[in-house]
Amino acid sequence: MDDGLRQPAARAAAGPAARELTLSVVAPTFNESKNILALIESLEACLSPIPEQSAWEVIFVDDNSPDGTAALVREIARTRPHVRCLQRFGRRGLSSAVIEGICSSSAPYVAVIDADMQHDETLLARMLGMIDAEKADLVVGSRYVGGGGFGDLSPLRRAMSQFATRLSGLVMQFDLTDPMSGFFMVRREAFLAAAPHLSGAGYKILLDFVASAPAPLKHLELPYEFRARLHGESKLDAMVLFEYIVLLLEKTIGRYIPIRFLMFCLVGGTGVLVHLATLFPVKELTSFAIAQAFAALVSMTSNFILNNILTYRDVRLRGRRLITGLFSFYAVCSIGFLANVSFAQLLYDRGQPWWSAGAAGVLIGCVWNFGASSIFTWKRA
Ligand code: GDD
Ligand code: MN
Repeated sequence: MDDGLRQPAARAAAGPAARELTLSVVAPTFNESKNILALIESLEACLSPIPEQSAWEVIFVDDNSPDGTAALVREIARTRPHVRCLQRFGRRGLSSAVIEGICSSSAPYVAVIDADMQHDETLLARMLGMIDAEKADLVVGSRYVGGGGFGDLSPLRRAMSQFATRLSGLVMQFDLTDPMSGFFMVRREAFLAAAPHLSGAGYKILLDFVASAPAPLKHLELPYEFRARLHGESKLDAMVLFEYIVLLLEKTIGRYIPIRFLMFCLVGGTGVLVHLATLFPVKELTSFAIAQAFAALVSMTSNFILNNILTYRDVRLRGRRLITGLFSFYAVCSIGFLANVSFAQLLYDRGQPWWSAGAAGVLIGCVWNFGASSIFTWKRA
């Protein structure tokens, strides 16, 4: 069990002057180079009143932002050892960045805060006092409790956030007024206990955490006012909304069937429509066999594109790898097609009705295509 602010157990070993790391602040960044110095300086001002024997750090988790955020963080960190940089390559995602940031911390408490100054870092010292005094697992900055608010967030964004909050009731294990908040503090041990069960999809790491925690969490809330972004722009786009749906699915039916597989099959379903829509006109121009082969090529290509955008959005192929990936996908699907036909034939020869033999063949083909393409086409770490 962690000793938090009271019992600096490791201090004796480290020498009398050593300060024990008490709080890690995790700030996910994508193109935030103009904001990070302001955040660091404000954190330094706000966190100086925490008990003097305790130290804190800020960990920026940057997804290799093209604006050089990571390089700038490192530059600043050279003279400020309480600043750390965790740079990720070939991946994007607010939630997964936060998860990795928290996992890289050794402090008993970890706070999560946006790097664009929209959250209220002046509350961190109070949050730390609360979580420690109350022996809580979680303190959430909420825009819905008295004194909190949305600032000048646009009416559309506000309505979207409120609607998403209502949907979150489907997966939450207990009541939080603002599960969409990205501003909170956790006991690291409580977070790590949930870590193996997290979805990691999208933006909503707090909701993911409270939906995944294996044991009930002792939680507190405190109000904060959402501020305007200091510089740059929000990364919220259609993909973020899509990822939110994926998170809700993963936390509901995802217990029974992997959502990625479901999505792969749905894309396959659209492929059938693309195939027929291509075959219909092309069969008038050439022989049926050639038209059928052409339609298969078109539908495999559209499946590849959709899977690359949706199913494997976290390991999306770009540039030259898009071409090699496409050809490996053709190869995988051709083998899947052979497996489909030969398995269906086998069942049919053994007396299965045409429809169940046919459906079993399709299922085998899908499972093969999914498994093999996630190994050969969209290689994941
Ligand atoms: N590493 C990493 N990777 N960081 C990211 C990514 C990503 O793919 N996308 C966004 N971020 C960082 C941003 O740089 C910023 O520091 C923070 O995550 C929040 O991103 P914004 O794009 O500014 O989010 P927002 O203002 O639209 O949404 C905020 O409001 C929500 C509540 O309405 C976020 O704070 C959410 O966490 C919050 O839930
Ligand atoms: Mn923001």
